[in-house]
Amino acid sequence: MLTVPLPDDCTPEAFRTAARKCLAQGLQPDEVIFSTSSTPSLFEEVGEESGSKLDMVVPRSFLDMMRKVLCHSASDRFALLYRLLWRIRSGERHILGNVADREAMQASRYARAVDKDVYRMHAYVRFAEREIDGKNLFVAWHEPQHRILQLAAPFFMDRFTNMDWLIATPVGTVAWDGRSLLFGPPAIRPSRTGDEVLDEVWRAYYRTTFNPARLRVKAMVAQMPKQHWATMPETAQIPELVKTASLRTKAMGEQPPDAPPRFAATLTERLAEKPHEVGDGTPLDLLRGQVQTCRSCPLYGPATQPVLGEGPLNAAIMFVGEQPGDHEDLTGKPFVGPAGQVFDRALAEVGIERSKAYVTNAVKHFKFEPRGKRRIHMKPSAGEVSKCRFWLQREIAAVKPRLIVALGATAMLGLTGRAVPVTKERGRILSSNSLSILVTVHPSYLLRLPDADLAALEYKRFVEDLRVAKRQLGTA
Ligand code: URA
Repeated sequence: MLTVPLPDDCTPEAFRTAARKCLAQGLQPDEVIFSTSSTPSLFEEVGEESGSKLDMVVPRSFLDMMRKVLCHSASDRFALLYRLLWRIRSGERHILGNVADREAMQASRYARAVDKDVYRMHAYVRFAEREIDGKNLFVAWHEPQHRILQLAAPFFMDRFTNMDWLIATPVGTVAWDGRSLLFGPPAIRPSRTGDEVLDEVWRAYYRTTFNPARLRVKAMVAQMPKQHWATMPETAQIPELVKTASLRTKAMGEQPPDAPPRFAATLTERLAEKPHEVGDGTPLDLLRGQVQTCRSCPLYGPATQPVLGEGPLNAAIMFVGEQPGDHEDLTGKPFVGPAGQVFDRALAEVGIERSKAYVTNAVKHFKFEPRGKRRIHMKPSAGEVSKCRFWLQREIAAVKPRLIVALGATAMLGLTGRAVPVTKERGRILSSNSLSILVTVHPSYLLRLPDADLAALEYKRFVEDLRVAKRQLGTA
C-alpha cells in the first residue's frame, strides 16, 4: 500500500505526475491511497526515480473531465480519477461515454457540479469599489462549493480587463492587476460586504428584470442557492417581490400593450408607402422580386428590405459597394446617403453619368447594431458576402457590364470570392472570371478620414481612379 500526498488544490499537472508514477509502477487502484491530509505520510512516497517510464496516451475527453473533477471538494476525487486512468490503461478507452458505468457516471456528476459552481460564480459575484493605497480596487466575496478559482477566473479577466479586482473566497483569492491573474491563500469572511451605490444598482436591476408572472420559487432557489444570497445585495428584496407577485401579475394583465419596438412604426409606414414594383418583366425586374424573399442569411431579419442595384439593363459600367446603409435600407435604393453623395460628386467631376451606370452592393441587406435611436453600420462577414454573391452574379449576368468598379474590399470579396488588398491594387484593372474589375476605395472611407488635408488628397486619388475607369470605357 502506498500513500500519495497531494495538496487540496492539486493542479492537473501535479495529479498527472503522481498518477503516472503510480501507473508506471503497476500500482493497482486499491494499492494507492491519495491523501490530502497535512500530516506526514505513514507510507512511502512515490519517488522521482521509482518505477519505469510510462508511455500512455489519455483521451482528451478524460483530460477535460479530469480538470473539473480535480476541483470538486469530494475526498474520493483523486482515487476515482486514478481508477478510471487504470481502466483506460487496461484497454477501456471509451469508458467515459458509457452511461452504464458507475465510476464514469460518478466522475461526470462531479464535473457537472463543478461546471455549475463556475457558472454560479460568474453569475453571482458582486464587486464593490474600494480605495486601497490610493488605488481603486473592485473587491468581492464569494463562497463557491468547490475549488473553482482557476477555472472561473479567466471569465472575470476577459470581462473586467480594465479594472483592478480581487475576489476573496474561503478556498483562496484571485486578483487581476491589469497584467496577470494572481492566486493567493484563503480569505476570512468579511463582516460587511458591498457598497451602497453598487448595491442599489444591483437591487434596481433585479427589480426591473424580475417578472412576477414567471415566478417559480423552487426553480429560483435551485438556480440561485441561498448560500450566495448574503453577498448579493438584490436578494434582500426577494421575499417582498415574491409576496406581491400575484398582485403585480394581475396589474400587468390590465395594462395596455407595450409600444412596438423602436423603428417599427417608421419602417412599416415607409414600406406601406412603397409597394413592391413588379416592372415589365426584364431580368432585373424578376431579380428585384426574387430578392424580396431572400432568407439565405440572418441579415434579412432586422433590415427593412433588400436593396437591389439600380440602373439600366445595358449599362457599360457597374459600381459595386459594400451593403446598403441606413438611408438605403429605408428608401430601397443604393448609394443615396452620405457615401452616395460623395460618390455622386466624384462621378460628376469625372463626367460619368450615374443614370447610365448600374450601381449595386455586394450585400443586399443592411447589417447594423441598434444604439439608442441610431442604427450603426456593421461590416458584413465573409459568410454573409458569400451568401449574397448569388444576387450579385445574377445582376452581372443580366447587365453584362464592360467594366466593374469595386468600391472597397467587401465589393472585391463579393466579386471574386477572394480578399484583395485594395490599397495595393487600387487604380488597376484586374481580370477575374472574364470580368474586368477596377478596384478603388469605398466612398465612406473618405468620410471617415479625420484629417481634412488627407481627406482632400484621398478624394483626389478616388477621382483619379474613376478617371481610369472612364478612359477604359472610352477605349474598350
Ligand atoms: N455604402 C454602400 O456600400 N452602399 C450603399 O448603398 C450605401 C453606403
